[in-house]
Formats: sequence, structure tokens, C-alpha cells
Amino acid sequence: MNINDLTKGTAVSTAGPQGAKQVSARPKPGSGRTGRRLVVISNRAPIEVVGEGSSQTTRRTVGGVAATFVRLLGNSGGLWIAWSGGQTAQRLTMPSHKANLTVLLLGLTDREVTHYYHGLCNRALWPLMHLNPQRCHFDGIDWTHYQRVNSSFAHLAAAETVTQDTVWVQDYHLALVPSMLRELRAGSTIGLFWHVPFPPEPVFRIFPWRTELLRGMLGADLIGFHTRSYTEEFLTACERLLRLEVDRQAGVVMVNERQVAVRAFPLGVAARDFADLAASERVRQRALEIQQAVGTPRIILGVDRLDYTKGIPERLLAFEQFLERNSEYHGRVAMIQIAVPSRERVPAYEQLRCRVEELVGRILGSFSTDGWVPLRYLHTRLDQEHLIAYYRAAEVALLTPLRDGMNLVAKEYVASRVDDDGVLVLSEFAGAAEELTEALLVNPYDIEAIALRLKQALEMPAGLRAETMRAMRAKVNQSTLDRWGEAFVAALNESACRADRAFADAAGR
Ligand code: UDP
Ligand code: G6P
Repeated sequence: MNINDLTKGTAVSTAGPQGAKQVSARPKPGSGRTGRRLVVISNRAPIEVVGEGSSQTTRRTVGGVAATFVRLLGNSGGLWIAWSGGQTAQRLTMPSHKANLTVLLLGLTDREVTHYYHGLCNRALWPLMHLNPQRCHFDGIDWTHYQRVNSSFAHLAAAETVTQDTVWVQDYHLALVPSMLRELRAGSTIGLFWHVPFPPEPVFRIFPWRTELLRGMLGADLIGFHTRSYTEEFLTACERLLRLEVDRQAGVVMVNERQVAVRAFPLGVAARDFADLAASERVRQRALEIQQAVGTPRIILGVDRLDYTKGIPERLLAFEQFLERNSEYHGRVAMIQIAVPSRERVPAYEQLRCRVEELVGRILGSFSTDGWVPLRYLHTRLDQEHLIAYYRAAEVALLTPLRDGMNLVAKEYVASRVDDDGVLVLSEFAGAAEELTEALLVNPYDIEAIALRLKQALEMPAGLRAETMRAMRAKVNQSTLDRWGEAFVAALNESACRADRAFADAAGR
């Protein structure tokens, strides 16, 4: 689906639980692929409303969750409930013959955005999940707003859905929605997917509202993580912090009479779409233009949101060290770093931007010559086609997050290399590294190791490059986004049926 396919709809009131009651128009069940309508609830929508009054416009958002459900719901149709990015509430529809998708945007007040989104989500849960407790900031008022906003989402979902719908909640922003929605409507089918890592229990324990968060998540019938190891960490937290009975073999947590299934579902990308676009004449032409503009035969590419978990300063330091130690590459290689502006009101992100810009300036000052610019830094967001042109233009993708739930960019790079060429240097701490084992894996904290890996990537023989890229493409083509969505929804519906039976048995006893 193209974001531009979303047409502006009517303004609706979605301000909190009371507002939710005003939202009418119950959906028709049964329009989804499985016969049940799919309802996705996430904090981030595929678009955000910016500006006020008559100057109000919408723009596309960037991030794994938005990218995933734009494609998935664009095909299957259904309802997507998410934050509008501001105070405005809106209902948008995609009038397509392919699928009937409604996007319901919830408005949040400035205070809610400050305490729920910038506070609890971005300054507490995000660093905690990414093993960065020293960056965590815990404040009771943030937690109060987190509960309030989760409650608004749950009430809106209850008003907009029927029991036959399959409700799929996304990510750490909305951890309490599963249990809140179950309170409002027992018998709902509720899934939760956690798009970020789950930390080891001694780190998770730091979170002051740890038991409330776990209980909130356990309102779901099925909880999904990207990898087996995040699943294990979550099960351990349930055992140790809630003293719940856990069956690791079956991947089940017993919550009173209810069974909650917990499983790994590694997220994939729409490999066919990336391959088709990558093979198109327009993208090939654009890739050529990028190469000509850069002016060196060989390009190294980094693509990330400007986030401290992505390891951008460490990567730049490694590139600097590579240039210091390998003068034979001067004038022959250039790095492009695309850094998408992100969470700019959070101080740690502002500081990161300063640090990155300082390093970019230092590298340019030290190494640039009349005819060679060794590094290009794009502080911008690119559309999909333009991004794929960069994927095709770059001989090496250097993706070195310090920790990352999955890292879809790594899979997109592989899916786009229809020429079976290109080398992926990937952090061993990205979820994608558990699948893409043929990549040149690297410890992203070890600057020297990254510099060495970079050299190894640039010197990899063509035959080996083709062999490893083919092996990775086979995996990415096999484990696609569509299959991920189908597998999760099928497992969710199955878990919900099992839960119903168990509940009926218990009631009959
Ligand atoms: N992306 C984009 N434009 C850009 C940079 C990234 O659309 O300029 C997309 C990219 O295609 C990918 C997503 O943003 O689908 C990033 O997902 P990832 O899992 O790599 O990281 P996240 O930002 O979710 O942490
Ligand atoms: C990560 C999170 C997503 C989030 C994305 C972009 O991928 O898992 O839930 O949407 O980052 O961050 P933002 O704060 O802009 O939504």
C-alpha cells in the first residue's frame, strides 16, 4: 500500500475513555483474511498529522512498526488504531478494491505526549529494553500518563471492535492494553507483538512498575518476540517476578485459569516488493546517479533512525580508523550515512545528533581532498524507492546497532540485492543476526573489529560475495512479512480457541 492512498476522512473525538464512547460505526466482522477482521493497535501510525488548522498536513513516518503494517494491512485490510502524532483525531480510509482499510488516529494532549511518549516510552522503556539502564529516567507522573493513554487506546478499541475481531497490539508503548481490553471485553482475541528486545530479568527488575507491566502484557492470548532469546528472558521474568507457572517446552504461562502462549516470530520483509523495485529501471538509474554523485567506485552505507541504540558514533569512529590505517583506500571508497530524525525532544537524541555531527565534521576535515569527499551524511527520511536505490548503489551495508530488536534495514538490503552482490556487515546484537548468520557479524562496541570487518568486506572475493548473498536472500525470501503476519494471526486464533476451551472446562468443573 502507498501512504498516499490514504484519503483524508472525518475528524472524530477520541480524547480518552469518554471520547471513545462517542466513536460510533461498529465494524462489519469477517472482512479479514482469516474470516475475522484484523484490528492493529500501535502507538505509531503510518502517517502523522503536522501543523495546526488550515496549514495542517500529513507526512509519512519512519520505523519498523509503521513500515510493517502499511504493507500487511494494505493487503489484508482491517482497522488500524494509532496515535495521530499530535492532538488531532481523525478517521482515514483507503478506498481500494484490494482491501478495505480504515486508520483511526487518536489525538493526545501535549501533556500526554510529554509524559507518556517522550517520558515513559522513550526515556524509560526504550533504554531499559535496549540494556541501557543508565539512560533510564523513572518518574511517577510519566507512569500515570502511560496508564491513562493505554486506557484511552483500550477504550477506543473496545468501542470500535466486536468480539469476533482479532485484535493485535504492538510494542512497548501499549503493554497495558491487552489486560485493559480484556477487562472491558472478556472473550476478545488479543495478541501482542514486542518489536524491541526483552532484557534479562536482573535488568528488567530495575523498572519500578515491572509487575504491572508484565500483568498488562499477560492480558494477551499470545505474546510474540523476534527471537527465542527474548522469549526466554520474558518467561524468566514471569517466573521470578510474578511467581507464575511457566511451561518452557510449550511456551506457555499460566495466569489463573488462562494460558498465555509466548513464542518467537522473527519479522520478515516484503522481499518480493523490494526485489521488484530494485530490479526496476528507475531504481537502477537512480542507483547509478548516486554512484556518480559520490564519485568513488565503492560505497559503504549506514541507514538508521538517529538513535543511540544504532551505534552510529561507534561506526563513524570505525570508519575513521579504517581510513587512518588503510591509506590505499583514500579516494577509492566513500561512506554514506542516512540518519532519520527521531524523538528530537528527548535530550539524549539531541546530544547524539551533536556527537554525530562533530564526528562527521572531524572525518571530513581530516580526510577530504580536492577530488574526494569520504563521507556523506544525510539527516533526512527517504521514501522506499530512493532508499532501495541506495541499497543497490552500496557495495557494503554497515549496520552496527548496539542492540536492536530485529533491524529490518539489514533484511531490506539483502532483499534488494537482486544482483546477488554486496556485503552485509551486521551487529551480532541485532535480532536479524540470529537468522542472517552468513553476514560478516561484528561486535558493535569494538571499534577496531568494525574497522577490520570493513576491510574484510571490501576485500571479499566476488565468488564468496555472491555465495553469501544468495544464501541470505534465500532466507529473506523464505521468511517474508506476509508469512510472519499469517503465522502470528493463525497462532493467535488458535491460542484464543484453546483459552476458550480451558475456560469452559474450568467453569464446568
Ligand atoms: N526507512 C525509511 N526511510 C529512511 C530510513 C529507513 O523508510 O530514510 C525504513 C526502513 O525501510 C525500515 C524502517 O524504516 O523499514 C526501519 O526499521 P528498522 O527495523 O531497521 O529500525 P527501527 O527504526 O524500527 O528501529
Ligand atoms: C522502533 C519501535 C517502534 C517505533 C519505531 C520508531 O522500531 O519498536 O515501535 O515506531 O522505533 O520510533 P517512533 O518513536 O518514531 O515511533
